[in-house]
Amino acid sequence: MKDHLIIFDTTMRDGEQSPGASMTKEEKLRIARLLEKMRVDVIEAGFPAASNGDFEAVQGVANAIKDSTVCSLSRANDRDISRAAEALKGANRSRIHTFIATSALHMEKKLRMTPDQVFEQARLAVRFARNLVADVEFSPEDAYRSDMDFLCRIIEAVIKDGATTINVPDTVGYAIPELYGTFIKTLRERVPNSDQAVWSVHCHNDLGMAVANSLAGVKIGGARQVECTINGLGERAGNCSLEEVVMALKTRRDYFGLDVGIETQHILAASRMVSQITGFVVQPNKAIVGANAFAHAAGIHQDGVLKARDTYEIMRAEDVGWSANKIVLSKVSGRNAFKQRLQELGAQLESESEINAAFARFKELADRKSEIFDEDILALVGNESVAREKEPYSFVSLSQHSETGERPHASIVFTVDGKEIKSASDGDGPVDASLKAIEAHVNSGAEMVLYSVNAISGSTESQGEVTVRLQHSGRVVNGVGADPDIIVASAKAYLSALSKLRSKADRVAAQG
Ligand code: KIV
Ligand code: ZN
Repeated sequence: MKDHLIIFDTTMRDGEQSPGASMTKEEKLRIARLLEKMRVDVIEAGFPAASNGDFEAVQGVANAIKDSTVCSLSRANDRDISRAAEALKGANRSRIHTFIATSALHMEKKLRMTPDQVFEQARLAVRFARNLVADVEFSPEDAYRSDMDFLCRIIEAVIKDGATTINVPDTVGYAIPELYGTFIKTLRERVPNSDQAVWSVHCHNDLGMAVANSLAGVKIGGARQVECTINGLGERAGNCSLEEVVMALKTRRDYFGLDVGIETQHILAASRMVSQITGFVVQPNKAIVGANAFAHAAGIHQDGVLKARDTYEIMRAEDVGWSANKIVLSKVSGRNAFKQRLQELGAQLESESEINAAFARFKELADRKSEIFDEDILALVGNESVAREKEPYSFVSLSQHSETGERPHASIVFTVDGKEIKSASDGDGPVDASLKAIEAHVNSGAEMVLYSVNAISGSTESQGEVTVRLQHSGRVVNGVGADPDIIVASAKAYLSALSKLRSKADRVAAQG
């Protein structure tokens, strides 16, 4: 296995830490199933000690996933580690990932601990975790800004105590590729028992170098695990992007010489799923998964590609899931074709009743929209999922009037815990009027910090996908809604965000 590079996905843990990106258990299950299908080696599913909801999500993923290792994060204390082990009980293969900060700045200012105390706590944590599972990862948080001697000392000790993977985070995205690669190399050379653990890289993207740093950690440093997220989701500027690092390793296998087990044809589906669940839109020029990543606009490029593809293409679009024929279904398509396309897109639904419900929504949409694209199908099972029907706030219908020179007015019907509410308001525009009509009844007190509209499949016939980010009492949530009518999509997104705010508030209340 020396030449195998472990892909460790942390979309559902580090990725979820970005403001508004929180995911429900059902959403995590959908992502996890697709990651397993992609043959991701390790799936970090969450931080069970953070909330009951996260505990249940990790537990759900651990019970459902059979082929990938399911990993659970914990601080370096017995309570967190026990919680992580408990959540992982149903897993076929499980890993506990425990961390404690090791930089002078973090130890002194954040932990208020001496290096010796941190050293002892790390050892106790790893020993405790090793008694519960065989696979234990240790991360010295802010490793890249830690003192090299101290880092060597603590890493040597935790390997003796049973850590099987040593992860070296560049927590604040401060590293430079060559320096980070050399940093890992030096650690591996100086830690006497370094060959008894797998070395891992975990890079943040604050200076836009997370992928480059990770690759340098592999090439120069000899790391054999990369921690990454779909679409590079993550704290602040995000993490190393899975799709970019995987395609770099595969496309330049001549240089890296490592085997990566990822089935890359599912990459685009995973990118879209994560984008739709979190409401984080993928920029058009994003490598691999952006709408323009394989689009050749300049005539000279088009001419070249038509004559010989590799004049301007270093990868095949199909290999990462872009299909040549994007129109997939229409209203004459049957349930089986719909189900098969769902599977191909990695959007498996749990039960026949979920498929039936999604198919009914598909038929409704196909009555209003002649061509149904992959993006529409993913939106149907994502934003319009059966789970949404269980949300406290749910859209029913909307009518609005807007005319040049007149103040727009909207009347909306929605349900709150199953009870139908009718409300109306005027506003600066039809979207504003619709959301004000919702607020006239709900009075959430939430502040809207983001509103964005995106055409799902790029034309005016497309569905509009709206993201609404709300903030209340320190909590930030994103709601996403899709519909051919962007005012309806806005109302759906707003109601979804309100539902998430409420379920977050309930979770906090349940924790006391
Ligand atoms: O960035 C970081 O340091 C982390 C650790 C918890 C691994 O995410
Ligand atoms: Zn991180």
